[in-house]
Amino acid sequence: MRILTGIQPSGTLHIGNYFGAMRPAIEAQSRGECFYFIADYHSMTSLFDPAKRRANTVNVALDWLACGLDPKHSVFWRQSDVPEVCELTWLLGSLTPMGLLERAHSYKDKTARGISANFGLFAYPVLMAADILLYNSDLVPVGKDQKQHVEMTRDIAVKFNQTYGDTFVVPQEQIRADVATVLGLDGQKMSKSYGNTIDLFGDEKATKKKIMGIVMDSRTPQEPKPDAGSNIAIQLLKLVAPADVAADYESRLREGGLGYGDLKKALFEHYWIYFTPYREKRTELAANLEYVEQLLTEGAQRARVVASGVLQRARQVSGLAK
Ligand code: TRP
Repeated sequence: MRILTGIQPSGTLHIGNYFGAMRPAIEAQSRGECFYFIADYHSMTSLFDPAKRRANTVNVALDWLACGLDPKHSVFWRQSDVPEVCELTWLLGSLTPMGLLERAHSYKDKTARGISANFGLFAYPVLMAADILLYNSDLVPVGKDQKQHVEMTRDIAVKFNQTYGDTFVVPQEQIRADVATVLGLDGQKMSKSYGNTIDLFGDEKATKKKIMGIVMDSRTPQEPKPDAGSNIAIQLLKLVAPADVAADYESRLREGGLGYGDLKKALFEHYWIYFTPYREKRTELAANLEYVEQLLTEGAQRARVVASGVLQRARQVSGLAK
């Protein structure tokens, strides 16, 4: 089974991204043949700073490689290193009804928020369909917000197959469990736009300060807290500490006697320990960017083998080639 997903190069990742999207994707490597790419073409619809795009691309590669993406086992590349995807975008776009694109939630949301639309933003779902279809993907794990895009991909694939003959594998989306289960420092869903995040690879001092700054209630340490299970620090601790350790903190909080300061200190320590091996790997990779670049180049070569075969077939059936 081929599992494919695109990763937006959009800056600093937080632990909500890690537990919601990265860890499941990394674990999926043992269940299928994973094709993961950095969607730098997609970033062009809304980011216009070349240095930032370059930096974001490298950073996201470092983050994923550090956290366990295995470039020997999986195929990991930068989208724009396989420009065949742009040609396929044209072939697919020419069969994509305007009405379908006009109904896209993400496009409608962005224009409603006053982001001025360009052709790329409008065509975004077609590029995404090309990403998926170019690699014969069976399964596409995405967040809820991308579900419609994968459904559109299926519609486009079926239309192409009906018009020109069987060419594309019709993929299935796999919607990730709600990332909202990772709470931010203020108890809302962890999200960059709420400014309530714990960074995945944040600076030690700054992160400690953020965690120690989590606002709790004014009950004394001695008071029993029957609602311990819904405490933000407890919930975050369950993600980063061994299960028995987290359970112990929870029961001590419930029974009374554990102060919030001590709880937050424990949360910071376990957060720090949990990500230490990844942090060290990241530092090591960051000191060897040529090697990272080489990994991406090799990944693109492997991706291209599949891409060129599929594109050739699409060209043939549609009469662009003999
Ligand atoms: N649009 C996706 C997102 O915002 C990223 C993406 C681009 C993608 N191409 C893809 C995801 C193909 C899955 C398959 O997260």
